[in-house]
Amino acid sequence: MSSIDLENIKEKALNDHVPIIMDNTLEKIQDYMKNKKINKILEIGTAVGYSAICFTEFLEKGGRIDTIERNEEMIKQAKENIKIVSDEYKINIYEGDAVDILPTLDDKYDMIFIDAAKTKYPFFLEQALRLLNNDGVIFADNILYKGYVLSDYNKHKQRTAVNHLREYIKLVTEDPNLETEILDIGDGLAITKKKFQ
Ligand SMILES: C[S@@+](CC[C@H](N)C(=O)[O-])C[C@H]1O[C@@H](n2cnc3c(N)ncnc32)[C@H](O)[C@@H]1O
Repeated sequence: MSSIDLENIKEKALNDHVPIIMDNTLEKIQDYMKNKKINKILEIGTAVGYSAICFTEFLEKGGRIDTIERNEEMIKQAKENIKIVSDEYKINIYEGDAVDILPTLDDKYDMIFIDAAKTKYPFFLEQALRLLNNDGVIFADNILYKGYVLSDYNKHKQRTAVNHLREYIKLVTEDPNLETEILDIGDGLAITKKKFQ
């Protein structure tokens, strides 16, 4: 993978205001990947493919990333980007709404990255837990959403998203079968694993 091509993809995404993964969040996930054998990743929210491409760096040889995106323009750009920088590994884009696609999947994944509509996080969690290997991990990005989630923010504009993110945190922290860390990096990252492996 050429780092110049990857930098160009990142720069274009930022110029176009596509909300790609923040550097410190990516670093945290890649650190986790370095110490584990990750063969299969599921990503919810591809955008232009930037995070998926970055994840391939630490994927086991022959590994695969399934990534879901519903926006046609994003899908078009993601396909072009993947073609430029990622020929060795397979990134498979599921085109459509994750709400419809997730229930049709029955593979097991070592790592699941949730990075799409915030109002759907509790549903994404339910599906992610079903699709996660017993020793796998779920990363949920934007979990603190500009600090709104742990504050007394209650304004109408983002209230639905904030309430769903709060519900996600409640689910992953109160379930006795799960262990979760909430990190105040980037826009907030929740890291969830199954407990009794
Ligand atoms: C934050 S961006 C993903 C960024 C990407 N993971 C990265 O870091 O490079 C979120 C993407 O999720 C997509 N999305 C949001 N809700 C979705 C849904 N329900 N199903 C499929 N895609 C969705 C949006 O169109 C957007 O492109």
